Amino acid sequence: MSFHPIDQATARLNRSELAVPGSQPEMFEKAAKSDADVIFLDLEDAVAPDEKEQARKNIIKGLNEIDWGTKSMSIRINGLDTHYMYRDVVDVVEQAGERLDLIMIPKVGTAADVYAIDMMVTQIEDAKGFKKRIGFEHIIETALGMQNVNEIAAASKRNESLHFGVADYAASMRARTTVIGGVNEHYSVLTDPAEDGSREVHWGDMWHSAIANMVVAARANGLRPIDGPFGDFSDPAGYKAAAFRAAVLGCEGKWAIHPSQLALANEVMSPSDAEVTKANRIIEAMAAAEAAGKGAVSLDGRLIDYASIRQAENLVEKAKQIAAG
Ligand code: GLV
Ligand code: MG
Repeated sequence: MSFHPIDQATARLNRSELAVPGSQPEMFEKAAKSDADVIFLDLEDAVAPDEKEQARKNIIKGLNEIDWGTKSMSIRINGLDTHYMYRDVVDVVEQAGERLDLIMIPKVGTAADVYAIDMMVTQIEDAKGFKKRIGFEHIIETALGMQNVNEIAAASKRNESLHFGVADYAASMRARTTVIGGVNEHYSVLTDPAEDGSREVHWGDMWHSAIANMVVAARANGLRPIDGPFGDFSDPAGYKAAAFRAAVLGCEGKWAIHPSQLALANEVMSPSDAEVTKANRIIEAMAAAEAAGKGAVSLDGRLIDYASIRQAENLVEKAKQIAAG
């Protein structure tokens, strides 16, 4: 390991993160009873400009009056380039800050954006005498945000997670697509013709490098990397495939823009019984190897060594975190 220790952010189950528009308070009760690990009440892109003020009031009322149980509660504020943002922070934190665990900052572009919100939240918490510190979730969804992702990830002790906002990221990159998440038939490889002249098209994942980049910045700073939205809520198989790709790259959660996606996210982002059993076998085999004075052994015909223990321990730890709720 490097001599540079990495402090881990506040531990929090974040397999699923449900987006709920602040302008639709009739959805709040149902969300509170759902299986979401984290809920963000939205003031940004799911809310029309004329509804921003009322959405803020709905959120303050909802946070104070609804029993959200043990769920982690977040609000997505408006961007720092809008005049809505300061009231989102001031009104909601002042009036409902004690039930707020997180603030989600959209389209974050630089470390100075994080500093600005940190300064505001710190003043409000101090003035109100709140004991709990509100954490930050950052949506990496612009070219600028991705360019500065490492500085953003390190910009505040409040930072807890980085989220890949695929829709705005596509817009910012002027990517030729209009879907939210998922794949694109034009991002593909055409194989050379086989003997019979046939060719195969292999679709690729055009968001691979962006998500992988964000995961590096998150993990190097002890934060949770979370995959963002998948717009086609009538395609559970497509959602699961996207969630699995993100999980394999290191993401530990995914957004749900529809309640039907919650169970899918929780399932994909929880290690399966088979994975946990295998991880425990690796840990046991390595303990036996160490007792016999060996650093590497074979298990089921494959090499395992001390790195395998670290991989296995991550899985077992995650399973314990989920079991503890
Ligand atoms: C989320 O905010 C996105 O733009 O995908
Ligand atoms: Mg967005």
